[in-house]
Amino acid sequence: MEKIYLIGFMGSGKTTVGRELSLALGWRFLDTDEIIEQRLGISISKIFSEYGQIFFRMEERNTLQSLLKENKVVIATGGGMPVFFNNLELMKNSGYVVYISVSLDLLRQRLNKDDESTKRPLAKKDDVERILNFRLNYYNKAHYICDVDNLTPLEVANKIKGAYKRWKKSI
Ligand code: S3P
Repeated sequence: MEKIYLIGFMGSGKTTVGRELSLALGWRFLDTDEIIEQRLGISISKIFSEYGQIFFRMEERNTLQSLLKENKVVIATGGGMPVFFNNLELMKNSGYVVYISVSLDLLRQRLNKDDESTKRPLAKKDDVERILNFRLNYYNKAHYICDVDNLTPLEVANKIKGAYKRWKKSI
C-alpha cells in the first residue's frame, strides 16, 4: 500500500501542498479534517465547541484507522494528529510521513489573520510557540522533514516526490 501522510502545524500548507503532490504523483488526495467535517456535517470549530477536543481526537483517530486500507493516496492530517494516541507510529508503519516545516515567524503571520481563530479553535496567537515546541518532538520523527518557508507549493511537492522515490528505492 502506498501512502504519503503530511503532518505539521496549523497554517503550514499541508492541504495546498497535498493537492499539488497528489497531482504530481497521479494519486488521490484526502484531508482528515475534511473527512471528519463531512461525516459529522459540522465544522471543526463547532465540533470543538459542542463536543470538546477529546471527542474530536477520537474522531481523528478513527478516521486515520479507516484510511489504512487506502492505496496511492496523499493524506493531509490535522496539526494535532501525530501527537495523540499512537497515531504517529500508525502512520509511519503504513506509509511515508512528511513534516511540512514552517518557521515560527511565518506561522504566526499566517495564523494572526482574523478569520483564523474562528476556523481553527487552537490557533490562539499566544499559544503558537508553546504548542509548536511541544509538537516538534513528534513532527521531527517524520521520515522526511521538508523546510518550505521560501518555496512554492509546486516546488515543495516536487521536493517531496523526489524524497519519496529515494526512500522507496532504499527500503
Ligand atoms: C488542529 C489543527 C487543525 C484541526 C483542528 C486541531 C491542531 O487542522 O485538526 O483545528 O490541533 O493543531 P489544520 O492543521 O489543518 O489546521
